[in-house]
Amino acid sequence: MNADEHKVSSPVPEDGAGTGPAAGDDTGSAVDDSKASPAGEPTRLYSGIQPTGDIHIGNYLGAVANWAKLIPRYDCIYCVVDYHAITIEYDPDTMRDAVLDTATMGIACGLDPDHCTFFVQSHVSETMELAWIFSTCTAIGALERMTQFKDKAAQHKQNINAGLFTYPVLQAADILGVKADGVPVGDDQSQHLELTREIARRFNHLYGPVFPDAKTLYSPAPRILGLDGQGKMSKSQGNYIAMKDRSDMVRKKLSTAYTDPNRLRRSDPGNPDICNIFTLHKSFSSPDEVATIDAECRSAGIGCVDCKKKLGANMETAMSPIQDKYEDLTRRPDDVRDALATGADRVRALTSETMTEVRQSLGLR
Ligand code: TRP
Repeated sequence: MNADEHKVSSPVPEDGAGTGPAAGDDTGSAVDDSKASPAGEPTRLYSGIQPTGDIHIGNYLGAVANWAKLIPRYDCIYCVVDYHAITIEYDPDTMRDAVLDTATMGIACGLDPDHCTFFVQSHVSETMELAWIFSTCTAIGALERMTQFKDKAAQHKQNINAGLFTYPVLQAADILGVKADGVPVGDDQSQHLELTREIARRFNHLYGPVFPDAKTLYSPAPRILGLDGQGKMSKSQGNYIAMKDRSDMVRKKLSTAYTDPNRLRRSDPGNPDICNIFTLHKSFSSPDEVATIDAECRSAGIGCVDCKKKLGANMETAMSPIQDKYEDLTRRPDDVRDALATGADRVRALTSETMTEVRQSLGLR
């Protein structure tokens, strides 16, 4: 399968309203106002990715590939959220490179800055001003209920800082500063998005109708488990295949990856429904091949070793054009920086406009 044809179909607004995006143009210019749509459909999307390490296939399938697919149909704004990343311990000496690397891989994965707006969060300081105002519209109790805060506080007991606590307030400012009305994310972000809507409603109630209701657009991709079969694929767990990993590394990592735990011998029939390798086949292999593997796994016609070999080959087909593009971009980092600066200019203009309205509504300045 071609890398451009990943099975990342259109996302579904969570309230189930509407059947798909507007029949808009397909030219995909980031500032094209013709991407208007019938009432209720989002027009401007916003999403963010943390610069906390290699983009891996879980990020790609679960987020970035889907974001890329949405670009022709919406005014898409994507962000490397470095201000969010500093809420946990990090290394200032490597941060600048990490941000550039995440942006470079994002572009290689299809976040083409000629067709969407791609920028770095810390390049737009107006958003931080909005976050302060939003913090006055946010109940402490609501923040205390955030499961991501509780999880991170448990993981980082030495550094439970106020920024970790108000993280979702900044996320709301990211989204609402540009008045995005759709947010493509994984289901782990649903609570943050619900809070974003609460903040918008509270602000609008207190100061006047400034902000839209931002819908959550869930990614249709399956949740990709880690290679160890222990929870989701994650940078911090070291159980991932990076988008950068070339085929020999991919094969090596696959060779020890967890499969159906009940299939101990080659002659045992397997159960693809509980096998993470099969989940990956569904993302990287053709429907015909997926059907064949499903049947042959259940009948013990194919063993895990061969099944993984087929997957490795299909992953190589999908990933190598992205890797070539990534390597090309790493040779011209100034082009990436220029693209990010252009993206930041647009987001700054949009957020400044919002801030003028906000200050007026608040009776300030
Ligand atoms: N919190 C998101 C995550 O951990 C990242 C993020 C920051 C984000 N700001 C955002 C996502 C705005 C969507 C919209 O994945």
